[in-house]
Amino acid sequence: MASLVGCYASSHGPLIARDWKILPALRREQFTTSFRELGRRLKAARPDVLIEIAPDHWNNFFLDNLPSICIGIGDTHGGPPEPFVKTYFPHQTVPGHAGLGKHILASALAADFEPSLSHHMRLDHGFCIPLWQMELPQLPLVPITVNDLEPPMMTIRRCLAWGRLLGEAIASYPEKIRVAILASGGLSHSIGERDMGAIDEKFDHECLRLMQAGDDAALAAFLERELPRTGNGGHEVRNWVIAHAAAGSRGFELIAYEPVPEVYVGCGYAAWNVAAAA
Ligand SMILES: [Fe+2]
Repeated sequence: MASLVGCYASSHGPLIARDWKILPALRREQFTTSFRELGRRLKAARPDVLIEIAPDHWNNFFLDNLPSICIGIGDTHGGPPEPFVKTYFPHQTVPGHAGLGKHILASALAADFEPSLSHHMRLDHGFCIPLWQMELPQLPLVPITVNDLEPPMMTIRRCLAWGRLLGEAIASYPEKIRVAILASGGLSHSIGERDMGAIDEKFDHECLRLMQAGDDAALAAFLERELPRTGNGGHEVRNWVIAHAAAGSRGFELIAYEPVPEVYVGCGYAAWNVAAAA
């Protein structure tokens, strides 16, 4: 049987790539230190496959067809469409893991969840910036996109259920492989809104505190109440919630949190205690 050997989360933001060369040196150092520490831990867990959960920023889907959640079940996926991401993540093709992807899909359908599916996903900056910054080898990837961009979105309760389902699906996969999860997104940010660039540190700290405490009911109540009041980018924290529940909601180690006004994002980095969840 497969086993979950690591579960991690980080923020992303297109400006981390687009403006990398003009960011202040201190910022570059902060990003490098935090992402590399996350990468060091992920590599130390020796996963055979990486499940990455990220939003799709209108590269696979648009308003004419927008799934709440989509599972990548192909043997390969496409590299980033954004030119400024290609500079740092030049891979045109990223290996998939069709076996695990299809098993997660089948497990979801058997449990009365109805995800969308893709045999070939384009992995935009949300997927590729952490992969680049964490200096990861090219692991077979099962990409999962979550609609964090356009209301109405999945409830936090449903994200928690998805996370638990994901944990169960990994545990029931018949091949003896080591699986890691990486959630990409959040924390607070505001894009294209009146308060564009605002970072809601109070929201970020409470969100992190509740995930560390492992009180799912309090976490769901907080996010359902506060997400509509903070910047629209905060919705990407759904991806963290899914990872959190997949790891058994046992709390995580916060590696770093830095509000970074240059890239408009409250940037967090975390590693869940999956040993406790096992
Ligand atoms: Fe994003």
